[in-house]
Amino acid sequence: MDFNELVNQRQSCRSYDESKPVEPEKLLAVLGAVRLAPSACNGQPYHLTVCRGEKAAEVAKATQGMGMNKFVSQAPILIVISEENYVKSAALGAKLKGNDYRSIDIGIATAYLTAEATAQGLSTCILGWLDDAKIRKICGLDQPVRLVITLGYAKDDPLRAKKRNELPQLVTYK
Ligand SMILES: Cc1cc2nc3c(=O)[nH]c(=O)nc-3n(C[C@H](O)[C@H](O)[C@H](O)COP(=O)(O)O)c2cc1C
Repeated sequence: MDFNELVNQRQSCRSYDESKPVEPEKLLAVLGAVRLAPSACNGQPYHLTVCRGEKAAEVAKATQGMGMNKFVSQAPILIVISEENYVKSAALGAKLKGNDYRSIDIGIATAYLTAEATAQGLSTCILGWLDDAKIRKICGLDQPVRLVITLGYAKDDPLRAKKRNELPQLVTYK
């Protein structure tokens, strides 16, 4: 699959095959892609907690406030992405330039994660609707939880047409 095919193939999956576990080598490939993602000052200011079984069920509940994200309970793996401290140079840069490099870095890592998952024939959904305090407690984390990613095999999830702004809305040439 070339990169454009991959980008078109990836979509938020909200229906998982609960009977089909993710092969350990595929999970490792996905985590390995995150490891190679670029980050400000190469600081990698994030941590991934891979939740399966009972832990995944507990984390799923913490993404389902106000009736949201019901499908998350079907996913065999939930990857919790929490923020870590900046390395010194990135902390200085963020302060001097007023930029939130950690969120940017987590976004890039997430893009790598979801792209590699797609390449492995797996499906994902990025979740920002989550209860930080509850997930920290479940996972024993003392840093903010920024995203949870569902990972598994899709069930009944045909490819949808992408709805996006057209390029003229996104891009100006000077
Ligand atoms: C930061 C972020 C948070 C998101 N949170 C949720 C969420 O809590 N629940 C959900 O179903 N989808 C969530 N999504 C998925 C988006 O709705 C989805 O990416 C967008 O509608 C584009 O659709 P596609 O991913 O299928 O191309 C989130 C996506 C991002 C990038």
